[in-house]
Amino acid sequence: MKNRSLVSITDFSREEYLQILDRAVEFEKNPNQRILQGKVVATLFFEPSTRTRLSFESAVNRLGGRVIGFSDASSSSTSKGESLKDTILTVSNYSDLIVMRHPIEGSARWASEVASVPVINAGDGANQHPTQCLLDLYTIRQTQGTLENLNIVFVGDLKYGRTVHSLVQALTNFNATFHFVSPTELKLPSSVKIYIKEKKLEYYQYTDINEAIQKADILYMTRIQRERFSDVMEYERVKNSYILNADMLNGTKNNLRILHPLPRVNEISTDVDSSPKAYYFQQALNGVFVRQALMASILGL
Ligand code: CP
Repeated sequence: MKNRSLVSITDFSREEYLQILDRAVEFEKNPNQRILQGKVVATLFFEPSTRTRLSFESAVNRLGGRVIGFSDASSSSTSKGESLKDTILTVSNYSDLIVMRHPIEGSARWASEVASVPVINAGDGANQHPTQCLLDLYTIRQTQGTLENLNIVFVGDLKYGRTVHSLVQALTNFNATFHFVSPTELKLPSSVKIYIKEKKLEYYQYTDINEAIQKADILYMTRIQRERFSDVMEYERVKNSYILNADMLNGTKNNLRILHPLPRVNEISTDVDSSPKAYYFQQALNGVFVRQALMASILGL
């Protein structure tokens, strides 16, 4: 993985995912090590973020590295009309690794092609979110004891939810059975469904969450991605499609764990938070250890 960019989860192999997850276990035991001393990581966030940016920055700080960057593109020279290419060429000169979130699909690939340092995609539009995927894999393995042969139920905005696209692709390496619950307008893109079919795996589609929830080992809830809708009325129509509450967990499997990449709006009621099956805040914590493992691997440390 040394000196390689991570733009799509498909850039890495199953063996490489497992290497990162195994290394993250060691960082979970001891997150404060000074192995990034002398390294500078640039975090360029052209879109809002709490968990991804701060967990990357926490990860770097705990490893003794330094962080530069911006969390609001309006404070960068992008607001004066500077191109993404010129920004990336410039920041390549200031850092050893670039972490970038951008609203345009394909922007991270473009950045990786012009940068002289590795680029980690922290989310490009509705396309990919590979580091969220790695922490999701870590959390699934942590809660289930395995990544193999699981029933994964995805609920919500499967069209625009980039975390779903990355995670589905990764889980095709582990013989998952997929259950997709969404409004008709927000179904999983055909390109991802074709990817599953090519791996000869099963998937099922539903509009009613109650038809799928009892099958779940992992229930992966997602937010309806308001910022991706061009028609606000369309968003208003689907925004409350699924609201998970504690009563809906009656009769679900004992090993069920509820994940969510967060932020949540209203798709998980707060009465679920105290359930032993709720695992989304531990999931967000795992982002620090997995991102430590990823950066250390890419920087050859
Ligand atoms: N999961 C995730 O990407 O969260 P943020 O948007 O807060 O970074």
